Amino acid sequence: MQEFISIKKKIDKIKKSTIFIPGDKSLSIRFILLSSLAEGKCTAYNLLNSEDVFSAIEILRKLGVKIINKKSKCDVYGKGLYGLNYKKDLVLNAGNSGTTARLIFSLLIDTNYPIKIIGDKSLSKRDMSRIIKPLKLFGTKFGNNDNKLPIFIKGAKNTKPINYVENLGSAQCKSAVMIAALKTLGTTKIKSLPSRNHTELMFKNVLQIPIKIKKNKKYDLIEVEGKKEIKPFNYKIPGDISSASFFIVLTLLSKSSKLTLKNININPTRVGIIKILNMMGANIKFLNKKKYNGELIGDIFVKSKKNLKAINLNSSLNSSAIDEFLLVFLVASRCEGKSSFVKLGELNKKESRRLDWAIKILKMMDIKVVKTKNNGIKIFGKKDFQINKKIIIKNFLKDHRIFMASTIAALSFGGSWKIYDPKSFKTSFPNFLKILVSLGAQIK
Ligand code: S3P
Repeated sequence: MQEFISIKKKIDKIKKSTIFIPGDKSLSIRFILLSSLAEGKCTAYNLLNSEDVFSAIEILRKLGVKIINKKSKCDVYGKGLYGLNYKKDLVLNAGNSGTTARLIFSLLIDTNYPIKIIGDKSLSKRDMSRIIKPLKLFGTKFGNNDNKLPIFIKGAKNTKPINYVENLGSAQCKSAVMIAALKTLGTTKIKSLPSRNHTELMFKNVLQIPIKIKKNKKYDLIEVEGKKEIKPFNYKIPGDISSASFFIVLTLLSKSSKLTLKNININPTRVGIIKILNMMGANIKFLNKKKYNGELIGDIFVKSKKNLKAINLNSSLNSSAIDEFLLVFLVASRCEGKSSFVKLGELNKKESRRLDWAIKILKMMDIKVVKTKNNGIKIFGKKDFQINKKIIIKNFLKDHRIFMASTIAALSFGGSWKIYDPKSFKTSFPNFLKILVSLGAQIK
């Protein structure tokens, strides 16, 4: 396998009119973890077959769960709420997946042996205190020096329900507390800043777990009752909007093109990117909307747009577009004038320091960009922005979204790009390059 890909030509016109996108990563990982706690066989259709999901599968297999994953369907033979196989000297590897690492701790709050969780180089740099703090309140113990992996978890016999305020707007933290709550007798109460609500929807609509959700001005108030049996269930996983977004932006920035992306999860807590792009003058539409297990699913229709407008965005859409900001910044490069974004500190806590990387890449592209106080960013875009130089992107901790966003920049603005670590996209989107080529991209 070569060390990098080269892109030397922008895409002219998108060659296809319709594409399908692989299954949603958040839902796929949640399916694997939660079906393992069910009382029997559960099946997922269109599970994302990517490395992050494989990490979750391997971990549950090591915990004694039988999982048969074929391309079209995945069967998980759940072992019940207390059926996981805890053994001495167990080491579980979450690979690159923050969601797997953070949520797996919550399944282990009753382990009678210390279990070691490890991850790759990027995951080992990420802060775990955000889930250690709440999980300790359940009675769980953690052995570690710096809140980074590797970390040992040792469970408690009588885990207690807790009250917790989640102030980061992190779905991973909220979900970790919700899942841990399943193993306690009583009601856990969470006050959480809004974030993607897949766990709530799965609990309520698929697992039939008693859960109450109210909203006040600032917080979601969630109550979960524990010690309830989870009946076996099936789940059809819709396409991932985070993966779809690469092609949405590519089409928007290309010439005279139209694209429909079929059967995508357009849950309102995930569509921040669409709202932001439409505020910038795009005309992206949701078609054939339907509800499935509480999730809103539909097709997304996008066409090229010449005159896009700069925006000054407040932080209200940050959480619902958290994985898509690199793409938003690329679109801002094509908008005449200053766009500004605020309070994006969470971006620097992802697989790489994404806010710093975005600034670096935009500077390489000769776009004027200024970091403002409190992790904000100002981008000074140009209407007919094109690139006419060589750009090399490397040493980005194999962050899949940096790799994929860089290819979209190359195909949208031109220039001669060398982008390293061409396997990195397999973390979340194994057929990313294949789809790009089918749309007309020339990649070597
Ligand atoms: C995810 C939540 C987000 C997101 C990540 C997946 C999830 O992280 O960035 O890619 O599946 O819950 P945070 O909850 O930490 O913001």
